[in-house]
Parts: sequence; structure tokens; C-alpha cells
Amino acid sequence: AVIRRADYAAPAFLIDSVSLEFDLVPERTIVTNTMRLRRNPDAAAARLELMGEALEFVSAAIDGKTLPASAVRAHEHGLTIEDVPDAFTLTIESACNPGANTTLSGLYVSSGNFFTQCEAEGFRRITYFLDRPDVMTTFTVTLRADKTAYPVLLSNGNLIEQGDLPDGRHFAKWEDPFKKPSYLFALVAGKLVALEERIRTGSGKEKLLQVWVEPHDLDKTRHAMDSLINSIRWDEERFGLELDLDRFMIVAVSDFNMGAMENKGLNIFNTKYVLANQETATDTDFGNIEAVVGHEYFHNWTGNRVTCRDWFQLSLKEGLTVFRDQEFSADMQGGATDEAARAVKRIDDVRVLRQMQFAEDAGPMAHPVRPESYVEINNFYTLTVYEKGAEVVRMYQTLFGRDGFRRGMDLYFKRHDGQAVTCDDFRNAMADANGRDLAQFERWYSQAGTPRVSVRTAYDAASQRYSVTLSQGYGEAAPAARETQKGPLLIPFAIGLIDRAGRDIPLRLEGEAAANGTTRVIELTEQEQTFTFVDVKEPPLPSLLRNFSAPVIVEYDYTNDELAFLLAHDSDPFNRWEAGQRLATRELLALAARAQAGEPLTFDDSTVAAFSRVLTDETLSPAFRELALVLPSEAYLAEQMAEADPAAVHAARQFARKRLARALKNEWLAIYERHATPGAYEPTPQAAGHRALKNLALAYLAELDDPADAVRLANAQYEHANNMTDRAAALAVLLAASAAAGAGVAQGALDDFYRRFEQEPLVIDKWFALQATQRGSAGRPVIEIVRTLMAHPAFSLRNPNRARSLIFSFCAANPAQFHAADGSGYAFWAEQVVALDALNPQVAARLTRSLEMWRRYTPALRERMREALERVATQVKSRDVREIVEKALA
Ligand code: ARG
Ligand code: ZN
Repeated sequence: AVIRRADYAAPAFLIDSVSLEFDLVPERTIVTNTMRLRRNPDAAAARLELMGEALEFVSAAIDGKTLPASAVRAHEHGLTIEDVPDAFTLTIESACNPGANTTLSGLYVSSGNFFTQCEAEGFRRITYFLDRPDVMTTFTVTLRADKTAYPVLLSNGNLIEQGDLPDGRHFAKWEDPFKKPSYLFALVAGKLVALEERIRTGSGKEKLLQVWVEPHDLDKTRHAMDSLINSIRWDEERFGLELDLDRFMIVAVSDFNMGAMENKGLNIFNTKYVLANQETATDTDFGNIEAVVGHEYFHNWTGNRVTCRDWFQLSLKEGLTVFRDQEFSADMQGGATDEAARAVKRIDDVRVLRQMQFAEDAGPMAHPVRPESYVEINNFYTLTVYEKGAEVVRMYQTLFGRDGFRRGMDLYFKRHDGQAVTCDDFRNAMADANGRDLAQFERWYSQAGTPRVSVRTAYDAASQRYSVTLSQGYGEAAPAARETQKGPLLIPFAIGLIDRAGRDIPLRLEGEAAANGTTRVIELTEQEQTFTFVDVKEPPLPSLLRNFSAPVIVEYDYTNDELAFLLAHDSDPFNRWEAGQRLATRELLALAARAQAGEPLTFDDSTVAAFSRVLTDETLSPAFRELALVLPSEAYLAEQMAEADPAAVHAARQFARKRLARALKNEWLAIYERHATPGAYEPTPQAAGHRALKNLALAYLAELDDPADAVRLANAQYEHANNMTDRAAALAVLLAASAAAGAGVAQGALDDFYRRFEQEPLVIDKWFALQATQRGSAGRPVIEIVRTLMAHPAFSLRNPNRARSLIFSFCAANPAQFHAADGSGYAFWAEQVVALDALNPQVAARLTRSLEMWRRYTPALRERMREALERVATQVKSRDVREIVEKALA
């Protein structure tokens, strides 16, 4: 059944309070649920329909009187009670089987401990309820369990009572003072230990912070705790938002579908986003943990205190909270004002957006930031809702500045604290706080697809005027049918003009009295508009969409020389990087076309020279130089072709890498030496930048026809590494070198890595992922290695992290091997989708999406992909996977 935004209706009943009692037993947990219910005065009268799934109904009573079987009907989707008073107490007893719950939604067991995941609709797998986000209530939760097996019993809010029970059992009673929707409920029970800190927040109140993990992981909790403390401080400083509970808990679990979950006061995290020390986690892991801890903490206000009216509004909390975590990470990188350091984070974020969200927006799953319909809401936790949603929020800040954005946030909380609201409510708060009409801005929430802005410029020497004409549209690939509100967008377009010496020109728009700044945000509101700059003394070079001020594709015909000039001179660090990417993309697409035509490959010397200048420019940070020297990904390049050809893209990119390796060999060797980080490991952004650049140098050296230098350096680095960044990078380089030098080159390190980290599941995930993403050689395609690893004793389909480390790494991060012409990758994909479908539909649906872009590929691949999709369509059962397959084939 399709659920539509337009069909929203207020709930027929409201819940004033709920008390839940759990008797936790893996095979049969009994839940007693007592609710104070009343009719919603603002809704039409209806019978009581409670949602429930995979539950065993035991009994129900109204105001203490057990209902006869005729008065209550338990069915596949819940419980129906025909005649109820206007206000009453309903007590329901039900049972569920957490030990057999492989979906990891609802209540489940992982490593012998109990956990919950309720967002979006998991609570109905725990008890019968009005499981929708606009029904908010206060929760009291009593947990009872065997004391030896489950010494720790946690739920949301404050611990108000605990004690022993007969038969070796004990109990804990928790009370959450804040009203919340059911998706924010959580419980945890098991053998866990905590790192604790006590801090004082702005109001002077003392707060208890805990990071709960299994005992052997306690040595990997410090960074998560530091990230939590930094998040609490940051939200007070930047947004005036204080932690509202006396206690804030983070719990790590190794079986988890997503990254983490913001349950009120009891965040539950995938271990991947909590556990880190220098031996086990890379610099990237450290950064991701900081970002995700921040993200979940920031939800306490943007998501929990103010939540979503319905799931179509998901971006209200997710887009906003991603924006907040991006700003937090940027501030942690470089402070609020170091633009070059902040740009490193911005480039990372835009890279993800363009590589993944733009693709999503051009495929069968394209949807607006605020979707109009869905079949399974779990399929809409997408890059569009999260990352494009964050860009939409960022545009308010670009339009109104940090202070104006803060005014909008303040008004949003003043109006809506404690409510379940919509994206319109957020937009209206931003508009009213800044005295602006933002009606047109709603189109960012209602139009699917990636907008294109094409740019024409003209310089008139006589009048010293420079005009910039911007026109917007969706191009031919527009998913026009999905647009509900047609018409132009309000696009904040940041622009600078650069003179012949590479300096920014002070900008004066026609009609203005004087020049004002060197970067201006012009507002494109019409389909086409011309902006004229005056007092422009020479023909300038435009720097367009600085800092990526809107999630659009800019079309402008720069020459190669102009791009090289921008790469060398643009004062906007984002656009400096962008110029290099445009230059490389152009060259690589030309190379791919020659590869397809079987023509000899050549690479422009001036492009090599442009990259060489950036690489050796010591005024630039190592982190920035690393980003600039990474060529656009194969996925991004394939996406730019009229018909995607992964083999041609791979050949082109490898050719270019070899060319850069050879031409800059001495530079790479020198960089490798100069950016070593001897001594104690430091997880700072600066040290991480040195490691990134050094390891990039090593990776380029491995591309040489004779990779002997790289192999020698990588072996030494592997052996002496005092941190996972360097160890994993060395292993990756040995695997890459083995394409030319034979598999034996990497085998020793590969075996050592496994033995050394056998007890560290997150590191063993890396071991699987490195092998699944390797290049492969003529004699041994990677699919064979992957199939062998599927039978490895450490592999399990039931653990999502492990499944992702091997299967997703191959199907989604190794395009040249996955898209092998013989269809072997697709056959493997189909087998795994079907196997996962029976265990864990959410994870299966994610894997299904690896083939959704099938229509974009060359005819031979397209045909094989369609066959695989059709085969899967006849075998899968879950609503999750069916929605994806059906949309892909439609
Ligand atoms: N709200 C969580 C977060 O972004 C994600 C939960 C997603 N859950 C799901 N079943 N899709 O922090
Ligand atoms: Zn979130």
C-alpha cells in the first residue's frame, strides 16, 4: 500500500501517559502496557486502532476490566477495539521473541544483551501502540530480568528506583520527564560497563555522562566521551541549547542496522561509531565518531524536543541535524573562522552529496526532500532527506548569515518546543525571524531532481561592466512527473571575480553606491536573470557557486587554462578544489571515451603541471593537497557519462593515476618522507592531514610499473605503524601493488593483520572490506576472492557491519569488478539480496539499491542487470525490498 503525504489525518486518540513493564527473557518477553487514553477533540470519532507487528496478544483490559474476546480483535497489523469510552485506562499484555528477531527492529538480542531500535516503526514490534510521531506522551518503564545475566538495566530519562526480586531477578524503574513519540523509546539490558564523566552545563547543573560498552571495549571509549562533551559545549555556544536531562547515556551495540539512534537520554550506537583507539581506528573513524556522536546529541533539541508530525517531515529533523553536525565538525577542524581548514570538511560533505545524492536524484528512487509518498518508510532514510536536506538548511544560513539563522532557530524553539511539526513550520520560523517571505523557498522541499544553473558572461570594456546571466532548470533528465510545485527555485549563488593577477576584485553591483566585499551571494529567483557588476577594469575570471552555496550543477565553459588558473589562485578554498576536479573530470571523461573506442590513451602535460603545482605548494595544508590530488571517483565519473561504462572509467582513471605517479615520482617520494609523523600518535586534524598526504603519496607510488619502492616503504610502514591509519593504508597499498607484482606481495601482511586483530570485530571488518575493494588481476577476479571469503569462519550475514564489509564493499564500492561483463557480480548480488531479505529486510533493501541505476549503463550490462532484478523480484518477500525492485523495474 502506498502512504501519501496528502492523506495526513490527526490521530483519533491521544495518550496522556504510558507505563511499560518488561519481563525480559530472550525467547519470550512479556510486556505489560498501561496507557491513559482519550479521544482527540480535534479529530473525527473512530474506533481504537493500535498498531502492532510480530506480537502475540495475551489480554486487554479497560479501566481494570478484562475485555472479552468479542470486544477486541488482534490481527496482522495490530489491535482493534470497537467500543471505548471517551477517556480510559487501557492495559494490554503481549509477548514477543527478541532472541529470534533478526530484523534488528523492535526488541532484539545481540551478543546476549537486549537492545531496541524503534525508529521509524519498530515500537509496534514491542507493544500495541499509536506508533506515530505526532502522538507524544510521558513514559515510565520498569525492567525486570535475571540479575546475573543482565546486571545493567537502562531506559530513557531518570532512574527512580531499583532493587532485587525473588529467584535471582532484579528490577529498575525509569521515568522520562519529557513527552516523546514512541520512536524515541529505548531499553538496554545486559552485561555492560561504562566510562563516566560528570560535567556542569551552562546553568550550573551537574550532569552524568556515560558511554556503555562490553567490558573488553572500555579502552576504546575515550574519544566518544570527548566528542560528547565537545558536542554539549558546542550546542550551548552556537545555539544556546543546553542538555535538559540529569543523565545522558550512549550505548554501543555490534548488531545495528544504521549508524546510531537518538533515543531520549539513551542514544544507541553501532559500535563502529563509538569504539576507537589508535591501534584499531583510522583518522577517518575518529572523525566519523565525532560527527555521529554530535549528530545524535544535537537531535536532543532538533528531533526530540521538537519532533516530526509525520514521516514525510523526516528531513525537518535529519536535514537540520546533519547541517548542525557538519558545522560542529567544521568548527572542531578549524574553529569558526579558519576558512581553509573548514573547507576540508565542506569538500568531504559535497563529495558525498555529488557522488551519491545526485545519483539518487537521477534514478528511480528520486524524491523531494519532503517526499510525497512511500511504501516502506525505512527506504526513505536517504541521501536526499539527509544530505540534500542539510544543504537546504544551509541555504537559510547562506541567505541570512549565522546571526539570522540563529534568530530563526530561536523562534522555531519558542514556537514549537514540545510539539510535532512540519518542514513548513521551520521555514516559517526562518522567514518570520528575518522578515522575509520564503514562500518560493518551499520548492526546495517539493521538487525532486538536481537543478542545473547555466552561466553566461559578457564583459564590456568601454563601460567596464561585467554581466553574469544565470538560468535554471532540470535539464533533460528531470523527473518532471515528481514535481508537485513547478516553477523556479530561490537559489543563493555565491560569486567572486578574479583579476589577471589572481586577486579578488571588490564587487559593486549595478545600482549600488560602492563596492562591498569580494564574495557576493546573488539570489536567483527567476528562470533567467542577469546580474551586472560595474567598475570592472579588466575581463575577470568568475569563481562560481563559492563554497557550494546551493545543491546544484553549474554549467559554464571554462577553458583548461582557466581551470588551472583557478586551481592556483581562487581565494575560495572550495572552488580551488572544485577547479581541479573539473579539470580532472574533463580529462578523465575524454580518456574514457578513447578507451571505449580502443584508441591510445594520452594525458595533457599542462594538467599534470597544474596538479604538480598544488602538490608542492607549501602554503596549502597537507589535508587540502590530499583532497586536491585525489581524482574524481569511478562512481562519479560513470555518472557523468551518457551511458555508464565502469570498465572504461576504470581504465581511464588508472591510466591517469599511473601518469601522475610517473611524472611526479620524485615529488611523491619527497612528500612521503616529509610528511611522516614520527613519535606518539596524535589524532589532531593537522597530524591526520600529514598522514593522509603521505599515504596518498604511497598509493601513487604503487601505481608505477615497477612498484618496488612502494612495496618496500609499505612493508616498513606496516611493520612499524603505531596507528591504524598507517597500518591499514600500508596494507591497501600492498594489495594494490599485488595487481602488478603478484598476490604474494600482500599475503604476509594480510595474514598478520587478521591474527593481530582477530578479537576486534571492527578491524576484521576492515580486513574484509580491503579485500573486497581491491583491484584484482587478470588471473584472479575479485568475485572469486569475495566468494571464498563468504565461507570464512569470521563471516556472518546476520551482522550488518560484517555483511556491509564484504558484500556492500564489493557491490557498491568496487564498480569495475562488480560490473564484470560476464554478469558474475550481478548473480552474486541477487543471491545475497534474497538471503538477506529473509533475515533483515532493511539491510537487504540497501543492498538492492546497488542495481537501481541499471538503465544508465551500456546495453550489455543493462540487459544483465535487468535479468538479475527480475530474478530477485520473483523471490523476495519483504515490503522493503519489493518497493526498491518494483521502482527500479517500473
Ligand atoms: N534517526 C537516526 C539518525 O539519523 C537514524 C534512524 C534510522 N532508522 C531506520 N530504521 N531507518 O540519527
Ligand atoms: Zn539523525
